[in-house]
Parts: sequence; structure tokens; C-alpha cells
Amino acid sequence: MIRVLFVCLGNICRSPMAEAVFRKLVEDEGLAGSFAIDSAGIGHWHIGKPPHEGTRRILKEHGIDCRGMKARQITADDLRSFDYIVAMDAENCADLRSLSGTGSESERRPQIFRLLDFAPEKGVRDVPDPYYTGNFAEVYELVEAGCRGLLKHIRDKEKL
Ligand code: 4NP
Repeated sequence: MIRVLFVCLGNICRSPMAEAVFRKLVEDEGLAGSFAIDSAGIGHWHIGKPPHEGTRRILKEHGIDCRGMKARQITADDLRSFDYIVAMDAENCADLRSLSGTGSESERRPQIFRLLDFAPEKGVRDVPDPYYTGNFAEVYELVEAGCRGLLKHIRDKEKL
């Protein structure tokens, strides 16, 4: 089982979108049984809330389901148990590195990635935060490209 966790600041806009898009890609490729996919936020502000209305709307437009999803905050256990921790921007990466650096040296260090490193053709490295920009369509396009690149990377690496 390959465990993939998407991370953003609030876990209501970008990372739930990435979780839902990645799950759909994995299902479409017949690989659902090989993956555990989740998302979490750095912050605690929206714990228990469903994805932002803008995320729900754009996912629906693309025929992607996000019913039942609820925001949660990342835990120390997540950092130990996921194989791929995929952040939306440089700030999330920095926060994750400082969270993962607090354990003892013998603890396993997680692999932290930035989603758009898997979509270099887009020419942007950070997924802009639609909580502030309001541009969920732009975010969807970037998230979809990143998720496609990430799945290809994992399939190559894990020989799936
Ligand atoms: P997200 O967007 O990180 O893509 O879920 C945000 C959602 C909420 C906040 C910031 C970013 N907030 O400050 O409450």
C-alpha cells in the first residue's frame, strides 16, 4: 500500500482538491487497491469542515466527488506513516520540515514534496491559495497537472 498525504494551510481549498483529483486519477487507472490517499492542514482553524464551496463547485464541474470529506490538522503520526507527503507551496514545505525535525534522530524522516515539482511544464512552483485569490479554476488546472505528474512518478518509482 502506497500512502499519499496532500497538505496545505487550511485543508479546505487546495489539499482536499488534490486528494479528490488524485483519488479519481488512481481509480481511473484501476489502482485504487494500491493506494491510501488523504489530506491535512498545517492549521487547526477549519477542523471538521467540508471543503470550501469554491473547491466543491470546481470538483463538481469536473465530475469529481468530495462528499464526506472533512478538514483535519496534520499530526506527528502522519509524518511517520505516509510515504509521500505532498505540499502545495514553499511555506507548507517549510512548516512540514520544521514539524518533522522535532522528532529524535532515529525517527524516520518523511519524504516531503511540492506538488508542482511534478508539473514543471506549468512554470510555477507554488499552487496559489484560492482562499485569498478566489481563483479556483486556476488552482484546479495546476492541481490536476501536478496530480498527473505525481501519479506517473509514483508508478515509475514503485513499478506499478
Ligand atoms: P487552503 O486555503 O490552505 O488551500 O485550504 C486556506 C484556507 C483557510 C485559511 C488559509 C488558507 N485560513 O487562514 O483560514
